[in-house]
Amino acid sequence: MTESLLEVHQLVKSYPGGRGLGRARPRVYAVNGVSFDVAAGECVGIVGESGCGKSTLARAIMGLTPVDSGEVRLRGKPTADRARGRPALQMVFQDAFGSLNPLMTVAQTVAEPAVVHGLVSREDAFAYVVDLLAQVGLREEFARRRPRDLSGGQRQRVAIARALATDPDLIIADEPVSALDVSIQAQVLSLLRDLAARRALSVLFIGHQLPVVANIADRVLVMYLGEIVEAGPSAEVFRDPRHPYTRALLASQPGRHRRGASPMLTGELPSQFEALDGCAFRSRCPQVVASCHEPVPEVMLGEKRSCRCVFAQGPARELQPAPARTE
Ligand SMILES: Nc1ncnc2c1ncn2[C@@H]1O[C@H](COP(=O)(O)OP(=O)(O)O)[C@@H](O)[C@H]1O
Ligand SMILES: [Mg+2]
Repeated sequence: MTESLLEVHQLVKSYPGGRGLGRARPRVYAVNGVSFDVAAGECVGIVGESGCGKSTLARAIMGLTPVDSGEVRLRGKPTADRARGRPALQMVFQDAFGSLNPLMTVAQTVAEPAVVHGLVSREDAFAYVVDLLAQVGLREEFARRRPRDLSGGQRQRVAIARALATDPDLIIADEPVSALDVSIQAQVLSLLRDLAARRALSVLFIGHQLPVVANIADRVLVMYLGEIVEAGPSAEVFRDPRHPYTRALLASQPGRHRRGASPMLTGELPSQFEALDGCAFRSRCPQVVASCHEPVPEVMLGEKRSCRCVFAQGPARELQPAPARTE
């Protein structure tokens, strides 16, 4: 058993939302009881539609937003009482342009966190940056440029170099390639994968396309309305998805028409006001039965494989009609 680098335990984060005032205002459960861990050197993917809570989860793990309840541990210690030393967690965002200071050169941007945390002196900073740029596939000349003089892919490489500057244990990459051209996406993804392997770095890779996430990650977590509904080794989840939502996600990929797949996801993601009693996916699921209105336990299908569906073990032989909804 490899050591857990990051442990996320029963994390809950809600926001006030919808209509109403004060206490009458319903809350949106953006992250609703999420637990998982990441081993040292492991690349874990999180996939789900826009609005399912991926970025909120990332921000909560980074400590950038207060949570309602739950805990995040890094090497066994709660991150809440982490000493302000070298930041062991770093983040790369979808919008590299927004996350880079337009007035600073690449060298200044990349060196800043390392200088602030005393990893390198100001005199040695330029050489330090040039080495980091080489690791992300950029030549020395890029050190003197500013964000506006870079392409989208180059900016994202700079953002990755900046994240690497404090020699973190884990990088959270939140849709890092979603804003890039398809041909550039593959290059940035293979860069992240190479860096993870070369530097024994853990990566939490967030995306909305299951094939992309499954391709880069060792293990994938499928998120729906703030909950992890399926988890397992990427190849297994991709080959044999057990949750109807995972199947629908796969079927909704452009150019994929799997036989026996669930219909494409239609409509908007319902809003997650107040925690639902039963399965969160039941309003869009093609195979709802009575027990879907009860709390759905997480079914373990192997050491690292789980699914939160009453049919996790296999397809139903006979589907019961759903009872009339009383709520
Ligand atoms: N600052 C906020 N205030 C209120 N609601 C928010 C805030 N941030 C996110 N949400 C809500 O939380 C849910 C999850 O959002 P988000 O984490 O951004 O999802 P994703 O990254 O998967 O697209 C959405 O319903 C969104 O509207
Ligand atoms: Mg997001």
